[in-house]
Amino acid sequence: MAAVHDVAASNAQILSSLQSPPHVVIVGGTSGIGRGFALTINRLCPAAHVTIIGRNESAANEILSQLGSNGSFIRADVSLMSEIRTITKKIKAVDILVLSQGVISMDAFARTKENINYALALNYYGRVLFIEELLPLLRASPLGGKVISVLNSKKGDPSKINWNNMGLETKCSFLVAINHAFAFNDLIIQYLASQPENSNVSFIHAYPGFVKTPIGDNLPFYIRLPMKAMIAITRVAVSPDECAEFMIHGILKAEKGYMYMDEKGETITNKTVANEEMLQKLWEHTHESISRTAS
Ligand SMILES: NC(=O)c1ccc[n+]([C@@H]2O[C@H](COP(=O)([O-])OP(=O)(O)OC[C@H]3O[C@@H](n4cnc5c(N)ncnc54)[C@H](OP(=O)(O)O)[C@@H]3O)[C@@H](O)[C@H]2O)c1
Repeated sequence: MAAVHDVAASNAQILSSLQSPPHVVIVGGTSGIGRGFALTINRLCPAAHVTIIGRNESAANEILSQLGSNGSFIRADVSLMSEIRTITKKIKAVDILVLSQGVISMDAFARTKENINYALALNYYGRVLFIEELLPLLRASPLGGKVISVLNSKKGDPSKINWNNMGLETKCSFLVAINHAFAFNDLIIQYLASQPENSNVSFIHAYPGFVKTPIGDNLPFYIRLPMKAMIAITRVAVSPDECAEFMIHGILKAEKGYMYMDEKGETITNKTVANEEMLQKLWEHTHESISRTAS
């Protein structure tokens, strides 16, 4: 298995040999994995155009001060489909789209003012809407557009979907909500890659591993403290920069179509391929849920 310094050297070499610097859009780029991705891409390829999206303006300004003149920030609450529709109109080019927005929400039943399950709005519906809105730019990318949704490609399992409560309108648990998010991300990239008009685009669902980020900081202490202790004892967690190197490694070698990526940027091969009926049902549900917010 490749070590981080090997993939870093190969990433730097590939990125520096590109004919034109890539346009990289990072949703959830103000913290954690997204922040690490922004700074790592900038270090490997200072000419890359990096746009970070999030709500925290002061965190964004700190990152922009490191990105220099090729960095930009778009402020938005991306749990709201209306905001995603508005801000995507400001984006004029994208070769790599990183979807790393997220929270760990203990209230699995919370809904946004657009009446979408809050966790799924961040982990799934909003991600699909970003892809949909930016697909014309991704298809036109001279590098071949790349989309990476950072969540958990190792645990996605279509058998855990409750097909009668896809949008979690009726009561659900934390576990059901995360299982839906993981499996939906798995299936939707399979669906999008199967569309002939997307043949120039690579769709990736990634598992980043344990990454040292503030995502668990708002959890109740009885979950947060044992989690921190476990991470400290096992030393399994990596820095956001290390995670970014492996993700960039995976992105740069991803072929057209869809890919399930592990924490080393390698393909996960033992995945269940969803059947056509499941993909169609998920797509119809997703399209209906997102479209309903457009009026
Ligand atoms: N860290 C890990 O070990 C790990 C492991 C597996 C999967 N993941 C997944 O990876 C993703 C990123 O996690 P992370 O650890 O990097 O978390 P993080 O450090 O907390 O970053 C989350 C990002 O999401 C953005 N965000 C959250 N809610 C938002 C909203 N309503 N509108 C706009 N932006 C919003 C935050 O931006 P603002 O605060 O600026 O709004 C921030 O940039 C998550 O989906 C997480 O579930 C993480």
